[in-house]
Amino acid sequence: MKKNRNKTILYNILFLAVCGGVFLFLWSAPPETTAHLPHDENHEKFMQMDKKEAEKYCGECHAKDKIAPLPKDHPPKYRCLFCHKRK
Ligand code: HEC
Ligand code: HEC
Repeated sequence: MKKNRNKTILYNILFLAVCGGVFLFLWSAPPETTAHLPHDENHEKFMQMDKKEAEKYCGECHAKDKIAPLPKDHPPKYRCLFCHKRK
């Protein structure tokens, strides 16, 4: 019986360790170095706007063949403002 209980404890610890790992992974990616939304006339109006609402407009300039295309190696780009924080 005692052996079984030790196993249960071990599995619980493993479970918590995995949860912690996943949490740290999600927390740390992307790194904090990601560029913030700039304060300029192109972006100022998005600072107050609802995030989902604001993100509808990003593509008007940040897309292929527009004035500020995204870099080729840009990560998956849904929800711009989760990564490019406003401050
Ligand atoms: C009217 C056009 C326009 C719209 C709309 C626009 N941008 Fe931009 N953005 C630019 C231009 C031009 C640049 C590059 C020059 C500069 O830094 O201002 C830029 C630069 C950036 C940068 C890089 C800043 C840096 O430090 O290099 C980020 C991040 C960015 N935009 C995010 C966004 C997001 C997110 C949205 C939607 C909420 C958005 N932009 C909407 C024109 C636009
Ligand atoms: C998963 C996180 C993530 C999402 C979502 C995301 N980006 Fe980025 N973006 C990055 C990273 C990382 C870089 C490159 C490193 C940096 O910004 O300094 C980058 C770079 C950029 C740049 C170039 C910045 C520079 O300094 O040249 C622009 C402009 C940009 N992103 C706009 C957008 C727009 C617009 C969206 C939404 C359509 C978006 N990003 C969504 C993470 C993200």
